[in-house]
Amino acid sequence: MSIKRLFVSGMFMTGALIALQARELPVYLDDSKPIEERIEDALSRMNLKEKIAVTHAQSKFCSPGVASLGIPEFWMTDGPHGIRPEVKWDEWDQAGWTNDSCVAFPALTCLAASWDPSVSMLYGKAIGAEARYRNKSVLLGPGVNIYRTPLNGRNFEYMGEDPYLAAQMVVPYIHGVQQNGVAACVKHYALNNHEVNRHTTNVIVDDRTLHEIYLPAFKAAVQEGNAWSIMGSYNLYKDQQGCHNEYLLNDILKGDWGFDGVVVSDWGGTHDTEQSITNGLDMEFGSWTNGLSNGASNAYDNYYMAQPYFKLIEEGKYGTKELDDKVRRILRLAFRTTMDRNRPFGAMLTREHYDIARKIGEAGIVLLQNTNNILPIKIDKPIKIAVIGENAVKMMTVGGGSSSLKVQRELSPLDGLRSRLSGIADVVYARGYVGDASGEYNGVVSGQDLTDNRSTEELIEEAVEIAKSADYVIVFGGLNKSANQDCEDSDRESLALPYAQDRLITSLAAVNKNLVYVNISGNAVAMPWIKDVPAVVQAWYLGSESGSAIASVLCGDVNPSGKLPMSFMSELDHYAAHKLCAYPGVKRDNSKFLDLEYSEGIFVGYRWADKHKVKPLFSFGHGLSYTTFKYGKVTADKKYIGTDDTLTFSVDVTNTGERAGAEVVQLYISDKKSSLARPEKELKGFCKVFLEKGETKNVKIKIDKDALSFYDDKRSQWIAEAGIFEALVGSSSTDIKTKVTFELR
Ligand code: BGC
Repeated sequence: MSIKRLFVSGMFMTGALIALQARELPVYLDDSKPIEERIEDALSRMNLKEKIAVTHAQSKFCSPGVASLGIPEFWMTDGPHGIRPEVKWDEWDQAGWTNDSCVAFPALTCLAASWDPSVSMLYGKAIGAEARYRNKSVLLGPGVNIYRTPLNGRNFEYMGEDPYLAAQMVVPYIHGVQQNGVAACVKHYALNNHEVNRHTTNVIVDDRTLHEIYLPAFKAAVQEGNAWSIMGSYNLYKDQQGCHNEYLLNDILKGDWGFDGVVVSDWGGTHDTEQSITNGLDMEFGSWTNGLSNGASNAYDNYYMAQPYFKLIEEGKYGTKELDDKVRRILRLAFRTTMDRNRPFGAMLTREHYDIARKIGEAGIVLLQNTNNILPIKIDKPIKIAVIGENAVKMMTVGGGSSSLKVQRELSPLDGLRSRLSGIADVVYARGYVGDASGEYNGVVSGQDLTDNRSTEELIEEAVEIAKSADYVIVFGGLNKSANQDCEDSDRESLALPYAQDRLITSLAAVNKNLVYVNISGNAVAMPWIKDVPAVVQAWYLGSESGSAIASVLCGDVNPSGKLPMSFMSELDHYAAHKLCAYPGVKRDNSKFLDLEYSEGIFVGYRWADKHKVKPLFSFGHGLSYTTFKYGKVTADKKYIGTDDTLTFSVDVTNTGERAGAEVVQLYISDKKSSLARPEKELKGFCKVFLEKGETKNVKIKIDKDALSFYDDKRSQWIAEAGIFEALVGSSSTDIKTKVTFELR
């Protein structure tokens, strides 16, 4: 008998005699065996009831394991910026735990704005460790839905408008999370590009656009990130909900991409038992989650993939082929997470996690405008700074929907500045505008009472008064996490800043020339006053270390190096979706459903701006520094390449300013002649390079035929068409510094 490992099944003690009864370890428990063998063994030991049970939730965020085999339950958590506080078993109400506060990391827009995959890896590792410590098996995130409209209330949870950038940034996050033995659950697959009518919108998009714009980040998450789970989306595509969508889940995800993980439904995104059986859904969550109104004892039995599934098998309509496939995937998830004896234990609220949160924030803050170099704040003599605006004090980790958090602490921009400038500057504050005075989401309270009943005039008057005598005026405005701002389940109503902020900013600009506007948002906003405000900073939602990260950048301790992951347009009509009235869709007669055609096709964001000569307010990839960079001439290592070759571009970049800094060198490819219409240029490579004052580095960026290909929907394949291409290297999508031509033969 080959007994590789033994485990103790019983222990009997008689006097000094200890008898150990040992038996052979079942294959599924033997971690020296390949996972696939263990899966088959576990599957063979499960009865039908147990198999059905693992495919659906047993509480808001938990699904059963296999009790008879000692396979633990699965615990899910939002995601994607920190670990969500515990809710009750059956309700959204807070469970009232006192040990579920977390570190809030910056929103994913900020991570994308860092253009630094190593920062993404740090993010994943740290949030994964927090999830692991809290005993979670699956982190519901990251999100990679493409930024199609600036009205989307959930853009802050995603990684911008460009599929290549989102793909590069999502992969390390997943690796980092999963190193902790916690699965990343990439969401929301697919085409969930805004929130209004998210359960009833049927997206119509051509195959080429689907493959070139909306799928690449998901594909990279699966094939390069090896994501262990993926979340279906609420919306419909080809008239089927994303959570049981034959084409997206069976054909593309599991078929073409070879995904071997678990498809988790979005909460309440499952609508049909037979489609769930046949169309690729593996785990159902959030249907009728109020167990009380459906009968506490059997609420979860009513799930589409519970009793109704059992019944269809009993009636002989379905066998167990589909079920066994789902269970295999779920067991695979168990062996990768809860059943992995070697996974680390995780850690929570560590100094290191706060440092990482701050580092991500500092790397992602974008200096949009800095006329006459008024930033960084000059602190060589005692100064007075007037800080104005609700967003200087408002806690932003509470609100926004499922990504809302309960944080151990959150440093506001005002407190961050006060602490950094203590003894150096006199920092005075005025509210300036009243936006969202509440501070509650889903039972978590910020503890801030921001009620202020003064009129707009009174608020502006007070702000103007303190601004007059200040050396600097720093306005913290933008959006917040309340409904119709940056918030799940609703979209913004316009591109404009809300709460009369434009009036406030214009009034301040009239009395003080040293005006800095810091925009806190996950979305572009219109800036009609842009010519009157010398410095503009995009500071996203930065989480626990918001105040310290912002203070470091404003005071010049850190040189800003973030670049926009989406175009900031000056008008809503400059976004294709709005110009073409392709948002939010057209209601079908006598039906709750809407049809929405992505009629702009592949021309999203800068691709649209290039094609229609729209001048962005701030371009995709734009971001300034406190130093300056000079680009040399880009060269290619070959003039002609074949489809199996790689091509390396190299360019010298020199820091020509007075301090160390980082530049994101961006490579765009332009196809000079093609059988299908192509964007003027597309991002296909980038490299963030750190340079000391006066230093020159040679930056190399390598591409292969993937960077030259388009998706031909007639042939259903990626094609690299022979011809002349141009490699454009620059500092943003509209600031190309140098280019070189090459030919694909
Ligand atoms: C959201 C998901 C989230 C889930 C669980 C849904 O409403 O769309 O992103 O993970 O709720 O909270």
